[in-house]
Formats: sequence, structure tokens, C-alpha cells
Amino acid sequence: MFSFLRNLGQPANPARDARLRQLQALNDGDILCSHCGSRLPPPHPAPLEMRDCLACGKLNLSPLRIGRFWLAEPLGSGGMGSVYLALDRQRPGTACAVKILSRGDKLKLRRVQTLCKEILVARVLPPHPCLPGFVEGGYADGEYYLAMEWIPGERLDELLETRGHLSETQTLLVALHLLAAEQAMLDAGFLYRDLKPENILVRPGGYTALVDFGLVLTLEHAANPAGRRLAGSPYFIPPERVMGQPEDPRSELYSLGQVMYYALTGQTLYDAAEIEELVVRHVARLRVPLSQKLQQLRPELAAVLQHLMAQQPDQRYPDLATAAAALFALLPTAAD
Ligand SMILES: Nc1ncnc2c1ncn2[C@@H]1O[C@H](COP(=O)(O)OP(=O)(O)O)[C@@H](O)[C@H]1O
Ligand SMILES: [Mg+2]
Repeated sequence: MFSFLRNLGQPANPARDARLRQLQALNDGDILCSHCGSRLPPPHPAPLEMRDCLACGKLNLSPLRIGRFWLAEPLGSGGMGSVYLALDRQRPGTACAVKILSRGDKLKLRRVQTLCKEILVARVLPPHPCLPGFVEGGYADGEYYLAMEWIPGERLDELLETRGHLSETQTLLVALHLLAAEQAMLDAGFLYRDLKPENILVRPGGYTALVDFGLVLTLEHAANPAGRRLAGSPYFIPPERVMGQPEDPRSELYSLGQVMYYALTGQTLYDAAEIEELVVRHVARLRVPLSQKLQQLRPELAAVLQHLMAQQPDQRYPDLATAAAALFALLPTAAD
């Protein structure tokens, strides 16, 4: 029944398999402990609350039903919402990822609008291996939700916590996948605008996907910043956004350079204690010149990163394809 886990290259995960078995049982009206498989007798706690199993004493999350989905294990959360591993009741044995708004914010107009925008973007994007496929979006059982393909990968920041940093080749491959995802969005008329480790999922086989369409804008909108609120991670934000200037694909290249530096070294390029100071540093004269910070890298790689992260957009690569070619040229060849 759970062969889809293997199809997706997911490493063995007995706890998650048990959770899905538990979800399957929900369709028959039973709630099973995800640890020992015992039936949990009623009364059941409110959805998404925790309860102890009487048999093994371990904690279980009480599932939440939204439309055709049973939301079970949390996959992650960010500033906007929470994403859960969910069972799709219309496709037995199929898991997906369902994003809902944070509890306190779930009916705030701005949040609802953002999630609806995410649903719209996910719906119109063509299927792409570096983006989560669209399953369904809408409103059901009191929740706005976006159901998408479950990417069984590890977040880049979590991966770096265990590994310290990635090799040069691994970083280049991840960056090329990110550029492919960005290009697919661009071809549909969108600028992604939220490149940061928390939105990057690296599958066990290395295929990398970009999630979270919360900051996506149309190209036309991105080019007209008047009146827009500043949003984005201060560590990865392009300087033109901080200054309220137009953004275009070259802005994504700046953030990509920051992400690559982070993957290569395990550290963000700027480590200012104060976030505000950090944002100012992106636009002010840097105390430490970029070239000095990049000294620890191979000169050819440092030169490409410097080009990606130039302060002025017209000093960066002119487009995503040119940047991709520069990264590809750095990969080892058969002669190396
Ligand atoms: N399709 C997915 N498959 C697996 N995990 C996901 C998926 N989408 C998001 N996540 C996880 O959920 C987290 C929060 O999702 P995200 O869309 O980034 O929310 P937010 O807008 O709040 O930042 C991500 O950092 C990631 O760990
Ligand atoms: Mg996010």
C-alpha cells in the first residue's frame, strides 16, 4: 500500500509509514497510535492537538480533515503557514503536502490573499521536477489550503546543520536545479523572490525543489515597486528590494549567490548581529569587501559568486541562462 514511498526514493521511515497506516485507518473510523498501532479510544482531542497512547505512552497528533485530505505529520512551517504530510482520500495510498495558514492568522485578509495567490501560481505553473506539482487548492472545513506534491527531501538549512557544508559540485548541482525552477517560473511570467535555505528541499537523490510561492510577483508587478512593503529574508534579499527599486531576474541571481555561499561554507555571507544593520550592509559600502570574503573559495568559483552578487544589477549576469552556463562550466569534466 505504501509503495509510493519507495517510488519517490524516500529512505525507510517506519514512523512515517505507521502514520500513513494510521491515516488509512481513519477512513474506516479508527484512530491508531502511530508508534505501536494500538487503537486510540474516544474521546478524541481537537484536530492537531497531541494525546498520549494508553498502550505505549507516546504522543500522537490528532489528525485534521480538510476536504478530501487527512492532515497528519507536520512537515514544516514558516512565517505564513504550516505544511502537513496528508493522505489524499481520493487517491488511496497517496500522500501529499497541504499548506494551511497559521492558527492565529487563518482568517486575516492579507494572509488569505497571499495563500490564494500561492494557489493561483501553483495552479498555472507547468509541471516541473524542481517545483512541487499542484494537487488542489481552495477552502473547506473552515480552512484555506493548498495541496501539492509532497517533496520527500531535506531543507537545505537542516542538511547543512548535519553536514556542515556541501561540496563545490553538490552546491553547483543544487544551484542549477534552482535556476531551472526559477526559469520555469519566469517562463510563466513570475519572479520567485524568496530564495533562501528554508524554501529549498533537497531530495535524497540530490534533485532539488523550490517551495513557497508567498512572495511571487508577476514580472510586471516586480518592476513597479511603488508602495510595496519590504518582505524577504534579510540574509538573502537583493539590495534593489531594500532600496525600493525595480526587481527582475538579476535580483534572483543575487539571492542565488548568497544561497551558494551559505551552502559552500555553512555560513551566511553577512553575520551582523542586528538584522537591521544587516539589511543596511547590503546597500552600504561593505566593511569587508566581497572579494576578501570569497578568498577561501577556488578563484574561478569566487569570480562567479562575485558576478552573481554584484551590488548593481547591471554588473551581474544578464539573465538566468547566462548564469547557468557559468555555473555549468565550473563542474568537473571527464579530463579533471
Ligand atoms: N511540497 C512540500 N513537500 C514537503 N515539505 C514542504 C513542502 N512545502 C513546504 N514544505 C515544508 O514546509 C515548510 C513551510 O512551507 P512554506 O511554504 O515555506 O511556508 P511559509 O510560507 O510559512 O514559509 C518549508 O520550509 C518546508 O520545510
Ligand atoms: Mg517558506
